[in-house]
Amino acid sequence: MNIRENQSLKKLNTFGIDASARFFSEFSSVEELKQLLSDPAFSNTPKLILGGGSNLLFTTDFKGLVLKNNLKGIELVNEDARFYYVKAAAGEVWHTFVMYCIAHNYAGLENLSLIPGNVGASPMQNIGAYGVEIKDSFFELEALKIADQTIHIFNNTDCKFGYRESVFKRELKNQFVITSVTFKLHKKPILNTTYGAIEKELEAMGAKEVNIQNISQAVINIRSSKLPNPAEIGNAGSFFKNPEISRTIFEQLKNEFPAIVGYDLENGNVKLAAGWLIEQCGWKGKTFGDAGVHKLQALVLVNYANAKGNEIYDLSQKIMDSVKERFGVELEREVNIIY
Ligand code: FAD
Ligand code: EPU
Repeated sequence: MNIRENQSLKKLNTFGIDASARFFSEFSSVEELKQLLSDPAFSNTPKLILGGGSNLLFTTDFKGLVLKNNLKGIELVNEDARFYYVKAAAGEVWHTFVMYCIAHNYAGLENLSLIPGNVGASPMQNIGAYGVEIKDSFFELEALKIADQTIHIFNNTDCKFGYRESVFKRELKNQFVITSVTFKLHKKPILNTTYGAIEKELEAMGAKEVNIQNISQAVINIRSSKLPNPAEIGNAGSFFKNPEISRTIFEQLKNEFPAIVGYDLENGNVKLAAGWLIEQCGWKGKTFGDAGVHKLQALVLVNYANAKGNEIYDLSQKIMDSVKERFGVELEREVNIIY
């Protein structure tokens, strides 16, 4: 394996931040990954597993070893009366995998079309969009423990999935490399058009029936019209999570700000649209040098050209402070900050 030094990461993160890695290597097999992790030269070196780089912000150069995941392969590993069990290597591109499933009539991931990144990162924050999260179709994953290179299987419960959360972002942060993910996909689709915009888009498309192909296309159309394409403007999607607050606090806020946007949750709490809070604080479309807040989606911070990671980070802090001051609501970053 080729270990490069002082490798630029600018093209390997969708924010387009010009950071570099002190050491860098790709791995294309679990064997290669094991060798890299067990190399005594790097035993005390911090390691960063890199997928598509679409959910991280480099605030400075990475002083350790960046390991770029290049594991490939998709396989139907099992089936029963209701489900196909489809295993994808962690380095497969997520959207390519979703398209593969749709082409084979494996149903369940269609609402998650066009999310950037790799399969291996999908359980990290239990990616979600348009009324669906991967936990709804997740069966199990395989991961290599960084400390001793042993292979571990995690089922749905083990992953402790939540809204943009999993055990890998919390208790087990930086301890495992996910090498493959197996999904349990429906033979008979359960179509989910609960997210209002999907139905509207299906109508606009003139779709004659609702099926997984059309839902996927509707989601692709909506996403393309709302979110900046990282190939054109650097970004990592929503920079913050939508905050969850109690119904009592929501009612108080609603009295003061009648237009506030919130969605009822099953647990009785309310999820606020962080984009609305940020827009109300006057940030939408603002630029500060090359860093800015997107003009169509206030939840998305952008790099127009050569913004530094810490400029984006500082902007995010100012946004959090102003939302806290105006609404008393704490925003939490969704993007992984790499120091
Ligand atoms: P990376 O950014 O490379 O890594 C993210 C984190 O996971 C890092 O901490 C990294 O070290 C770790 N990691 C990556 N791979 C592995 C692995 N194999 N094993 C262990 N750790 C690993 N997300 C949503 O949930 N819903 C959306 O709708 C959505 N829309 C987006 C739209 C845009 C335009 C963009 C740019 C991003 C969007 N995202 C969304 C965020 C992003 O696409 C997802 O979080 C995605 O899963 C990140 O994948 P990645 O391979 O790029 O991860
Ligand atoms: N809104 C505003 N102003 C804005 C943006 C949003 O007022 O500038 C309000 C609007 O009322 C809008 C509502 O917020 O109706 C919700 O906006 P949108 O439908 O764009 O969704 P979101 O809450 O901003 C979330 C996810 C996205 C996911 C979409 C669709 C989070 C943090 N973000 O965004 O995920 O694609 O819903 O399901 O949950 C990501 O995680 O990176 C991401 C893009």
